[in-house]
Amino acid sequence: MAQAEFDNQAFRQALGSFTTGVTIITATAPDGTPVGLTANSFNSVSLDPPLVLWSLAKTSLSVEAFNKAEHWNVHVLSQHQQDLSNTFASRGEDKFSGIELEDGISDAPLIPACSARFQCRNTVTHDGGDHLIFIGEVVDFDQQALPPLVFQQGQYAMTARKPWEEVALSAQPAAPECSYNEDLLGYLLGRSHFQMLYRMRKVLDEQALEDSHFFALSVMNIQHQLTIEELNTHLDYTGHSIGEADVKFLVAQELIKELDNDVYQLTPTGRETSLHHIAQAKAIEEELIAELGSGDVMALKLMLKRLIHKTDPGLPDLWSEQGAK
Ligand SMILES: Cc1cc2nc3c(=O)[nH]c(=O)nc-3n(C[C@H](O)[C@H](O)[C@H](O)COP(=O)(O)O)c2cc1C
Repeated sequence: MAQAEFDNQAFRQALGSFTTGVTIITATAPDGTPVGLTANSFNSVSLDPPLVLWSLAKTSLSVEAFNKAEHWNVHVLSQHQQDLSNTFASRGEDKFSGIELEDGISDAPLIPACSARFQCRNTVTHDGGDHLIFIGEVVDFDQQALPPLVFQQGQYAMTARKPWEEVALSAQPAAPECSYNEDLLGYLLGRSHFQMLYRMRKVLDEQALEDSHFFALSVMNIQHQLTIEELNTHLDYTGHSIGEADVKFLVAQELIKELDNDVYQLTPTGRETSLHHIAQAKAIEEELIAELGSGDVMALKLMLKRLIHKTDPGLPDLWSEQGAK
């Protein structure tokens, strides 16, 4: 392609299709100042000898420090380190403030709580257009079971694994003429919701509580004082509501009590019951994390939050002080 036709913007965008992890690379300048930047140009080069590479823009403020550094450290960031990634992707601020650095094999700063870290001795530096390419020998490395941060098309992302054996729900594929199939999103969401609730329902059954009571106690655990009308605005989208008979039942069970002006709140027993429900919900989630892996569960939550935003019928904000939009 002739140089005049080369579209830099489109080139950058096409490169963004190559999904990468996110690293922070650190070194120490000759005057002892720690330097570091966010980089996704990191890659493996060789297993024997163990070599890795990354590239640094020649416009970087730390170019001189890296050029002179004998050692640099690569930190493969975990999902929880997105803010750190942003800090190290900005110029000129004190990027290391508040970080408790660990001791490594060299003077290069070593950041804790990463998915993996590679402590490297620089072996060769190549010119690479507007970047410098650093190749380093890995002298030491470590890894933690923390899901990695991902970068794709200019945005942070999460990865979910694709274990095929878990993806087909039935050995019998649905007949082609069948109007429902196991890939229908509503079916998948509904089924997973009811399967999660099924475990919880055993606890509810022991307490003779219906789903609507469980939902009501959960809302009152967050929004402490509510009229029944306000409570029902939070429940409306579930298809459940609390009627007079339910209020009587919950009061008789000493789970809620009436204050002035038709306002209700949980009793100490109600609060304890609700805390028991939360503990059960957390135990179910912990088991799921053990089964699916924390990275996949985080990716699932991310997608569910996006879906909730897109399908919100205009619910009052459950998590705000007043429960109002
Ligand atoms: C996800 C991501 C990946 C990046 N990858 C690189 C890279 O590989 N090389 C590079 O020089 N800059 C990269 N940058 C940009 C630098 O982090 C940014 O220019 C930083 O301000 C450089 O800091 P410095 O000038 O203090 O060295 C990346 C930024 C982000 C957000």
